Amino acid sequence: MSIWRVQGGYPLDGSVTIQGAKNAVLPVLAAAILAGSEVELTNVPRLRDVEASLDILRHLGCEAGRQDDVVNVDSRGLSGCRIPRELTGQMRSSVIFLGAILARCGQARIAMPGGCELGPRPVDLHLAAMKALGAEVSLEDGEIVCRADGLTGGHIELALPSVGASENAMIAACGAKGTTVITGAAREPEIVELQGFLRALGADVDGAGTDEVTVRGFSPVPNVGWRVMPDRIAAATVLCACACAGGTAELRGVEADHVAGVTEVLRAMGADVQAVSHRLRIRRQGRLRGGQTVVTRPYPGFPTDVQPLMMAASLKADGVTVFEENIFAGRYRQAGQMARLGAKIEISGRRAAVTGVERLHGAQVLAEDLRGGASLIIAGLGAEGETLVTDPGHVIRGYEDLDKVLNSLGARIDFTK
Ligand code: UD1
Repeated sequence: MSIWRVQGGYPLDGSVTIQGAKNAVLPVLAAAILAGSEVELTNVPRLRDVEASLDILRHLGCEAGRQDDVVNVDSRGLSGCRIPRELTGQMRSSVIFLGAILARCGQARIAMPGGCELGPRPVDLHLAAMKALGAEVSLEDGEIVCRADGLTGGHIELALPSVGASENAMIAACGAKGTTVITGAAREPEIVELQGFLRALGADVDGAGTDEVTVRGFSPVPNVGWRVMPDRIAAATVLCACACAGGTAELRGVEADHVAGVTEVLRAMGADVQAVSHRLRIRRQGRLRGGQTVVTRPYPGFPTDVQPLMMAASLKADGVTVFEENIFAGRYRQAGQMARLGAKIEISGRRAAVTGVERLHGAQVLAEDLRGGASLIIAGLGAEGETLVTDPGHVIRGYEDLDKVLNSLGARIDFTK
């Protein structure tokens, strides 16, 4: 069990560089299987989910190694097509490997991890995409099994703009003969990033960033290098940390457009946020204003991953801030823990109403999921006294050195693994 010991009451002041994006690097690592050659990735964050992906690649027979922020994957020796439960249990989004393994081997077997911290996380859209490309899909002994004697391009119509299913469909379509059109695709920046990487690998793909992505074919280019984009959720985390603790922070190496939905809410609450080139500056003095309704939606709407973080920022706002969670049911688990700090939150179905309080006090709380855990650390920055966040390892799945990043801004966090 890790412990985050947070001394609250210190406003932030300083400048930080934002890590590479977890949600961009995971599909890129899976897609590296398509290459059948060496791929060099830079700006790869040190995260538990990334290390779990590298373990999966090695298990499949690829070479995968890291030096500092550089990860090299050589998928020439790919020899396996099965990911066992020991490995899928390490990373909940391991289904992202399905399309790549199937495209390269004609077969893929992936053990499904049990329940998930964000409620049941179905994979029906991923499987429907594989079927649309001609794969046979079955469930055998708790493993998803996909078989295809050569994938064929087709029309994949996603009933929901699932990020992971869009990515899996794009990757699998690279291994299919003929053209694939994905309609109802997710439009997140990570999809655009994946398209860029697939193009670098030799795929003829376009449309990412719109709801229709077309993959026309793939002729592999050897020895590709790729720099991972900045993490928009990590950027939003620092913004919300500053909004909660007060003070100023400068974020370097960010794409301001990617967090526009978040900065818009922070500005409406009274924070001063300025974007200059690849930097964002936030200043929060005095109390934030309530009165906002924060509605999570697929990109470019307000990101579900930032909902708990923005909730932390709103706990001491003057007035009521309402949240409406539309992507994942059961994503308010942080609220019960925040109440221990003195927060006033009422939940009714997919809505949560936060009535700002003048003071929060330190307490012992439990991180029950990745972003919820980070939101408690942030809330602790705005609480008086010491907040002890116990964490079974969720936060390091997605954040590289969150304690050091926030401490470099003047926070006082002591992290023990
Ligand atoms: C990705 C992100 C995650 C983020 C989420 C939504 C990664 C590794 N993770 O997760 O941080 O919170 O996008 O922005 O990139 N759904 C189905 N059937 C499916 C797949 C999804 O019903 O087959 C539903 C989910 O239950 C959810 C919604 O679609 O309600 C969106 O999920 P999805 O976009 O797929 O999230 P992930 O790709 O898993």
